[in-house]
Amino acid sequence: MKDIISVMIPEDELQKRIAELGAEITKDFEGEPVHLVCILKGSVFFTCALAQQIKLPLTMDFMRVASYGEGTTSSGIVRLSKDLDDSIEGKNVVVIEDIVDTGRTLKYLLGLLSQRKPKALKLCTLLSKPARRVTEIEGDYTGFEIPDKFVVGYGLDFAEHYRNLPYIGVIEELGDERE
Ligand code: IMP
Ligand code: MG
Repeated sequence: MKDIISVMIPEDELQKRIAELGAEITKDFEGEPVHLVCILKGSVFFTCALAQQIKLPLTMDFMRVASYGEGTTSSGIVRLSKDLDDSIEGKNVVVIEDIVDTGRTLKYLLGLLSQRKPKALKLCTLLSKPARRVTEIEGDYTGFEIPDKFVVGYGLDFAEHYRNLPYIGVIEELGDERE
């Protein structure tokens, strides 16, 4: 049996909101270059769509953090498994995340990046689950605040599956077969 997934945020709403976030970032940095830092793997789809909506000189880099533990919640112990290729010193950095849940991953990451002397350091997250927060982390740009449900799609995975869904969905019932 396949998993049963319901749509929480449809594709057209995602695209509309991403265009708004792109316009906001474009306005806030007013003609200055921006450097997007995409947090692998979940933020890949969001980063690509957002980058196309930012009308400024733009560069991108990628990093990967892994939270220890294989459950559906982060442990707070974060390991940097791929660092950035380029220095961020003096750059207008916008960190792109798929979701801020407890906020532990971002707290670690923003702390690390701020030590590298960027000119600006902002956080843009597609989704936020405020009910789950255990740190004071908030996005400077937030796509959608969502209830405390485990979501998949648009980069977000369940055991590496469903990143390719063009919408945000909720797994209503677990089967034994993934699409
Ligand atoms: P945090 O450190 O608890 O904020 O965890 C953030 C990370 O946990 C995200 O980057 C996701 O990889 C993962 N995560 C949290 N909530 C969800 C969810 O609902 N679906 C899929 N992944 C999630
Ligand atoms: Mg994940």
